[in-house]
Amino acid sequence: MSKITTATLLKMKQEGQKFTAITAYDASFAKLFDDEGAHVLLIGDSLGMVLQGGDDTLAVNMDEMVYHTRCVARGAEKSLVIADLPFMSYATPEQTYQNAARLMAAGARMVKMEGGEWLCDSIRHLTRNGVPVCGHLGLTPQSVHVFGGFKVQGRDEFQAQEIYRQALALQEAGIQLLVLECVPVSLAERITKALRIPVIGIGAGPVTDGQILVMHDAFGITSGYVPKFTKNFLIQGGDLRGAVRLYIKEVAEGTFPGPEHCFN
Ligand code: KIV
Repeated sequence: MSKITTATLLKMKQEGQKFTAITAYDASFAKLFDDEGAHVLLIGDSLGMVLQGGDDTLAVNMDEMVYHTRCVARGAEKSLVIADLPFMSYATPEQTYQNAARLMAAGARMVKMEGGEWLCDSIRHLTRNGVPVCGHLGLTPQSVHVFGGFKVQGRDEFQAQEIYRQALALQEAGIQLLVLECVPVSLAERITKALRIPVIGIGAGPVTDGQILVMHDAFGITSGYVPKFTKNFLIQGGDLRGAVRLYIKEVAEGTFPGPEHCFN
């Protein structure tokens, strides 16, 4: 596999080939995922929950994101490395640019931001200055306290229409990738078909162009509440490498996520 870029993912979408993303937070796992062929590695602010043990992602700060991005970038050779801008690190276009520049300098090749059209000025500012952007809509965990919990978004027609509109607005502003989290399959399908850019789903059904999982969920080491959209690939995969290979294979074949992982 040669180096994955946004152009690779766009071509895969155009050719109907599904791609695989997984979160990574250190060099060793980044290398293992990269070796096995994961297309995208995300340094997610989910590290606030799975590494730091928090109830949500809100306490994660820029220094922590920079540290983990640097670690992952050292392990990744071919996979596209994307880093999250954490809570309250992108309130204005200038602040967004300063913080995105730190993540890019640490080895990210794209930054991800949660939210809708209120981010469009920042997205334009970043892309004009050479920073590729990934959007994130649906259940955006940094807004968990606005939603009143980790809840499926876009179930009623008004909300679904709103998420659809935001997706188009973000694309027009210049995002090159979109994560859609915990939305009904029908909405994910409408958005994936309407957008030129690739869409990565998590809890959005098999209809998106790619899938992403938090690595701890893919290995069944998430304690407490286990979300419906996850799968422990270690059970059939046997070991870590086998689990990653199985995840990539099932995404490519369209068998993961199955109906039991989807929301209506
Ligand atoms: O922080 C994260 O890991 C994420 C993924 C769940 C998409 O944003």
